[in-house]
Amino acid sequence: MEKGYNEIKIQSDRGFKTIKILIINGGPHRGNTWLLTEKAKEYLAGKSIVFTEVHLSDMGLPFCTGCSGCFRLGHKACPHNGAVQPVMDLIEQSDGVIFSVPCFQGHLPGILKNFTDHMAFMLHRPRYFTKKALIISTTGGVMARSTTKALSSTLTGWGFNRCYQLPVAAYSWNDYRPTEKDLRKTYKIAGKFYRDVSSGKMHVPKAGVLIPFNLFQALTSVKTDYPTEDNDFWPRYRGMRYAPGIPLTPGKRLLGWLIYQMGRALSKSTTVTYRK
Ligand SMILES: Cc1cc2nc3c(=O)[nH]c(=O)nc-3n(C[C@H](O)[C@H](O)[C@H](O)COP(=O)(O)O)c2cc1C
Repeated sequence: MEKGYNEIKIQSDRGFKTIKILIINGGPHRGNTWLLTEKAKEYLAGKSIVFTEVHLSDMGLPFCTGCSGCFRLGHKACPHNGAVQPVMDLIEQSDGVIFSVPCFQGHLPGILKNFTDHMAFMLHRPRYFTKKALIISTTGGVMARSTTKALSSTLTGWGFNRCYQLPVAAYSWNDYRPTEKDLRKTYKIAGKFYRDVSSGKMHVPKAGVLIPFNLFQALTSVKTDYPTEDNDFWPRYRGMRYAPGIPLTPGKRLLGWLIYQMGRALSKSTTVTYRK
């Protein structure tokens, strides 16, 4: 893994704000998808960006054991926190993240799925509200879009403000030569991602994103065997229907409130148990 942004000299060009982009290689090697990711990076290289790369295959991250310590006690209780935390910190420090994600059986490669399992507690306690993502996937023939969609829905659950998707049919096993059309599409979407990140504009979240935010906030009043990390986390958002600084329309605010009320009603009749 590379060191982090603070060790890189940041320069600004033509008045654009210099932004920090983290690139996460979620595949087990540097194959077709990495090649296309590098094309996007080359295209963006002339802009005011500092890049940092993480290759998940270099991390040696063991499988999530399913201990649920992250949900109950906090993510620092994860037996693999030492490996996961540096990547979480890099995401935190970045303005945007590019995910390089080969299509394996229409879904995420196991190596990335394992990483996202370690971050699943964020569906209960989201945090990356100001981050934007570009998700690049190549497939042999079909289902690159299912792959980018799957990751997009996970990332919005973590709080990501917007996910740009670049699904591409490479028709190749390890010998992809991007066509002119693929390159045009790559540059177009990479350009949109860059402009959005550097604008600093925050978008109104989709309705689906309001469900976990308001439901888990309300469920902190649910009866449990002992307090969980969720109980410490949610009071900071009391009375808020989404994270501060992220715009909401009146309709979405109302929807968030309704979800919150449903959660409150549900919490009265629900008990959650934990094995100690
Ligand atoms: C384990 C595995 C699963 C795959 N699943 C699919 C699939 O569901 N659909 C498809 O069209 N191609 C599939 N392929 C082909 C890859 O998606 C395709 O070669 C892609 O460009 C690989 O990217 P990479 O070289 O970055 O790993 C699969 C390849 C592998 C190795």
